[in-house]
Amino acid sequence: MDTLIGIYAELLAQGHGSDKGTEHSYLPFYEGVLASVREQPIRLLEIGVLNGDSLRLWRRYFVAAEVVGIDINPDTPLVDGTTLVIGDARQTGMAVDLGQFDVIVDDGSHAPDDVVAVFAEIFPHLAPGGLYVIEDIEHDEAARRYHALAAFTEVDFRPSGGQFNDRLMWTVKAHSGL
Ligand SMILES: C[S@@+](CC[C@H](N)C(=O)[O-])C[C@H]1O[C@@H](n2cnc3c(N)ncnc32)[C@H](O)[C@@H]1O
Repeated sequence: MDTLIGIYAELLAQGHGSDKGTEHSYLPFYEGVLASVREQPIRLLEIGVLNGDSLRLWRRYFVAAEVVGIDINPDTPLVDGTTLVIGDARQTGMAVDLGQFDVIVDDGSHAPDDVVAVFAEIFPHLAPGGLYVIEDIEHDEAARRYHALAAFTEVDFRPSGGQFNDRLMWTVKAHSGL
């Protein structure tokens, strides 16, 4: 079976790697938390598409998922088999028609004010039990702000040689308990 790391290597060789496995060290993390739902009909949303390379990775990895990207840049390219929404993820109501997601990745501007505003707008679209990831934490003060938003766990790849912002935070949305 293809692994996320193996698919990434193929895409990288084709010039479509994204920075998730080059400047950053996120692939083993994602493989670890997402392998069990690889064949499930999950819905995944990534904030920040750029040239579409991470959407290509998700599209190839997930067999039955719906993959959606949001980007503020109207020139963002569409990736086959994915849905692209052009808009500002901080904007109230922008995600109102998008429904609920099982996995949400914030790889947008990484500016702390934006990350907080995106969380306020997009986290309500995370299904109970779903995974929310904030990538590229730029400094400790930003991490402190995000810890106040939800019960985030930080994964810091800098000690193993990662660059200054090679750290992410993740949380799983609680079930209502009803
Ligand atoms: C780091 S790049 C995304 C890289 C991509 N996820 C990947 O792994 O290849 C960040 C993108 O976020 C977009 N962006 C920045 N602020 C945004 C916002 N408020 N709403 C939506 N997209 C935003 C930028 O236009 C840019 O394309």
